[in-house]
Amino acid sequence: MTNTVDQLTIQKPDDWHLHLRDGAVLESVVGHTAAQFGRAIIMPNLTPPVTTTALAQAYRERIVAALNKTTPDAKFEPLMTLYLTDNTDSDEIRRAKESGIVHGVKLYPAGATTNSDAGVTDLLGRCTKVLEVMQEVGMPLLVHGEVTDPSIDLFDREAVFIDRVMLPLRRAFPALKVVFEHLTTADGAAYVSEAEGPIAATITAHHLLYNRNALFQGGLRPHWYCLPVLKRERHRQALLQAAVSTSGRFFLGTDSAPHARGRKEQDCGCAGCYTALHAMELYATAFDQIGRLDQLEAFASLNGPAFYGLPVNSATLTLKRAEYVVPDQLPLAGEEVVPLANGTTLGWVVQP
Ligand code: DOR
Ligand code: ZN
Repeated sequence: MTNTVDQLTIQKPDDWHLHLRDGAVLESVVGHTAAQFGRAIIMPNLTPPVTTTALAQAYRERIVAALNKTTPDAKFEPLMTLYLTDNTDSDEIRRAKESGIVHGVKLYPAGATTNSDAGVTDLLGRCTKVLEVMQEVGMPLLVHGEVTDPSIDLFDREAVFIDRVMLPLRRAFPALKVVFEHLTTADGAAYVSEAEGPIAATITAHHLLYNRNALFQGGLRPHWYCLPVLKRERHRQALLQAAVSTSGRFFLGTDSAPHARGRKEQDCGCAGCYTALHAMELYATAFDQIGRLDQLEAFASLNGPAFYGLPVNSATLTLKRAEYVVPDQLPLAGEEVVPLANGTTLGWVVQP
């Protein structure tokens, strides 16, 4: 890593949590990620969800075709995942591992977020055999860590998930690789820092840069709404400290989640922030704000491959200190998507 005041060159980063969707939306967005990242873990919450290795293989081919059509020069590898259901068969996990293209199995508690209706209703009650095989073959479980209990306050759902699900899960399967996805709280950061065994967490750029005030800045702001929702400032501070720590357990996952403008600006707007366009600009701005650009490479490019057992990318990415004004909107399959923090100015720009 070279780190001068105005320029930063790091090993090419990866995005360990990404929504690419499908069809024309996929074609609109995939080039943004391929322009900045070497690889990305592709979320399986399509409709219908990607529940089998055969479906993951077919989805991977559609992603590669979209890349070839829109950004033929890009060198980008999609890392596929399966969507865990109450009915996932443990043989499916063995097939996934043998395929070499599936790198994780995603747990969506049923009802927790977008397209999670087919998710798991009772992890330890329904998925024990599958978890056993995942632990045995070294297949990571990627966790949307929020309870869905309507009596639990939306802002407390991650902390309660640790007690109700994460602790019993990891007691029962201590050698299972677990990624606590899109961590949003001080409770989560403390848990992941201190827990024993193979656990790590991804952190989004928006949870590092903004607190929950962004949702209500001068009015109701649907483009800042995601799940897990933005939290209090003290949680943001804890996430920043986790991201720049030397623990090696925290790495980059944008959770970039495109929704057309109209799907967010309605009486029941979708959750998801679009950050694929300017992901590294956002992360660099966040690390720079606390004077810790020295840790950006570990977070963005080194810790993730180490956890997933993959090589670090050989190419590099250079960022320059410069004003970057986030566009107001981008084309999305004949409609438009509003990128996170549109119209605001960031402090760093990825060099082509
Ligand atoms: O904000 C979110 N959007 N959180 C999720 O967990 C899912 C995602 C989506 O798919 O739109
Ligand atoms: Zn997500």
